[in-house]
Amino acid sequence: MKIAVIGTGYVGLVTGVALSEIGHTVICIDVDPEKVEKLSQGIPTIYEPGLKELIQKNINNGRLFFTSEHRRGLEGADVVYIAVGTPQRRDGSANLSYVEQAAVDIAANITRNVIVVIKSTVPVGTNFHIKELINRNTVNGVHVRIASNPEFLREGSAVHDTFHGDRIVIGTEDGETADILAEINKPFDMPILKTDISSAEMIKYSSNAFLATKISFINEIANLCESLGANVEEVAKGMGFDHRIGPDFLKAGIGYGGSCFPKDTNALVQLAGNADHEFNLLKSVIEVNNNQQLLLIDKILSRFGSVRGKRAAVLGLAFKPNTDDLRESPALVMIPKLVKLGADVIAYDPIAVSNAKKQFSVEIEYTEDLNEALQDADFAVIITDWADVKNIDLSAFAAAMRTPVVFDGRNCYSLDRVRKSEVEYYSIGRPSHTPELTK
Ligand code: UGA
Repeated sequence: MKIAVIGTGYVGLVTGVALSEIGHTVICIDVDPEKVEKLSQGIPTIYEPGLKELIQKNINNGRLFFTSEHRRGLEGADVVYIAVGTPQRRDGSANLSYVEQAAVDIAANITRNVIVVIKSTVPVGTNFHIKELINRNTVNGVHVRIASNPEFLREGSAVHDTFHGDRIVIGTEDGETADILAEINKPFDMPILKTDISSAEMIKYSSNAFLATKISFINEIANLCESLGANVEEVAKGMGFDHRIGPDFLKAGIGYGGSCFPKDTNALVQLAGNADHEFNLLKSVIEVNNNQQLLLIDKILSRFGSVRGKRAAVLGLAFKPNTDDLRESPALVMIPKLVKLGADVIAYDPIAVSNAKKQFSVEIEYTEDLNEALQDADFAVIITDWADVKNIDLSAFAAAMRTPVVFDGRNCYSLDRVRKSEVEYYSIGRPSHTPELTK
């Protein structure tokens, strides 16, 4: 199959590369010529484990191409994937302008009937709207069929998830289109659900909303555990044995971030509102998460009273490990708050520092060296559970910091480890630990 993919963000790039890896000829289209130039040379424009090797391999075997020209990219394509962003509007709804622009570009450039597959996360009804938009604007008497094929990959493990996902969802208006897409995806060797378009669109939002609900639920339980003297990790473990609940996405912390859960939960609330449905459960999930992102500030203030003039080592900027993405990261809320309270902040991240510099307007120091971040700090705040933060020898805190007080937003260390160390330790939903030395 000759496949064109519009958009080379996380979803588009990983999708295009994966489709070339399973044997299709793929051309990825992006309006940014600099991105296209880099990608054509085999240089990934995002950090994603395993992606670089696959890009280079498939460029070299002649199955993967990049272009900034729609005419070139769409020429001869059998199937066109739309994988552009659907960022959040001010009112929480999804901004469809990039998807609509892709539709207009498709209409202007295709010269034969194609199947258009929407990978972007779009509100229910969008696929039909996009099909109409394209078919109204084609110039060569051609028409398109539409398919909704939402993605379920996670940043930081996007390549792995694409090849080892749980299912592929294909929403179409007719069986023939569904069969063609099933055939394209067959080499991924995953269960395929063929369904109608609206249900496919809804599956994506419902899945993300449910996962976000699991996280906010366990975070509420964590906060309750603290008040009642229980340990949320033990509670989550005990719950997870029940196959009806499952052990995944029950890790308490300082809330979910990233480009998907915050945006998609807000969009679903909005979508429900448009259908005269108050989605109260999801509204609470969002509220719990907003509060959770600031939880450590309360803990820091109740420990220190004031942080004015105190040196704060913020460990991690990315919203999760193995990505340089800061979108909706708790760091974006925590750091300005610490600065406002008068703390002197040094932020550590192994790969997200250059992205962070573009995002923060407040004056802070940055480092890619974990030990440098800890040097002379009065307290450390763990935002991202990077492997090197998790695997640090806890004696490093006491060796480098002025006072080894650690606020761990990701429950990186077992309480057994902590109790054997000199660290004064506050985490989420677990008892705190104050060693004799720092009392
Ligand atoms: C999420 C979904 O997991 C993917 O299935 C989906 O395809 C993607 O959104 C999307 O819609 O594009 P992603 O946001 O990349 O993927 O990352 P996750 O691993 O799901 O983590 C999201 C946030 O939840 C992170 O901030 C993470 O720290 C937090 N989280 C996750 C928890 O706080 N606890 C958990 O138990 C799991």
